[in-house]
Amino acid sequence: MSRVPFMAGNWKMNKTVGEAVELVKELKISIAGTEGVEVAVAPPFTALYAVRKELEGSSIRLAAQNLYWEEKGAFTGEISSLMLKELGCHYVIIGHSERRQYFGEMDVTVNKRMRAALSQGVIPILCIGETLKEREEEKTFTVIDSQLGNGLKGIGEREMERMVIAYEPVWAIGTGKTATPQQAEEVHQFIRQGLEKLYTRGVAEVVRIQYGGSVTPESVKGLMSQKNIDGALVGGASLKSEPFSKIVRFKEM
Ligand code: PGA
Repeated sequence: MSRVPFMAGNWKMNKTVGEAVELVKELKISIAGTEGVEVAVAPPFTALYAVRKELEGSSIRLAAQNLYWEEKGAFTGEISSLMLKELGCHYVIIGHSERRQYFGEMDVTVNKRMRAALSQGVIPILCIGETLKEREEEKTFTVIDSQLGNGLKGIGEREMERMVIAYEPVWAIGTGKTATPQQAEEVHQFIRQGLEKLYTRGVAEVVRIQYGGSVTPESVKGLMSQKNIDGALVGGASLKSEPFSKIVRFKEM
């Protein structure tokens, strides 16, 4: 079973509209001709429209960083999956650890967001991962198991096949501490087994599992050589075209 490698740039709360368009312009040039790798960028909401326009005719896909689960109504400050769909978002990141840590995101709200995304055909990138404390207390697998099971509640097999999971150990995000390829692979394998238990072997084989947490051009190759690592969700190194395009071109390195 072959899963197409998938590299996504999570820009977080960075880039004005002008800077976002500039970065995408550079990216289109620096990754031109790369085959067999899917690429997506997740700008902040304010830049989605402009980036989408800049991406016309390009194979780079647009992703959002979050959404609210209601379609419309009196929810000041929120953005719905319908709105993201209209903007041309192919993917949406859901349950990122920064949302869990700073904005009260919980598995139950993660699940609501997942369903809302799928209702509009926007594909969720579900983020899961343990904190340093949880790892030290040897709770990694328990945490992963419950974040996965709760996040995916009520989601059917057909929808699941298109979904992306991102394993992002919280202790590795923005810290410069990448998990070793072996550490990551161990959890990726566990996630795939979890998908098999929740769904079927077939589903587990097609779902792509990205690794995220201080991925750099230097660390990507080792990570991508692991059997169950199918791509990367990249934060810091996606804010400039040079490192991100090197990550996209990992096969040539
Ligand atoms: P980082 O962020 O690459 O800057 O560690 C990854 C992420 O949070 O998705």
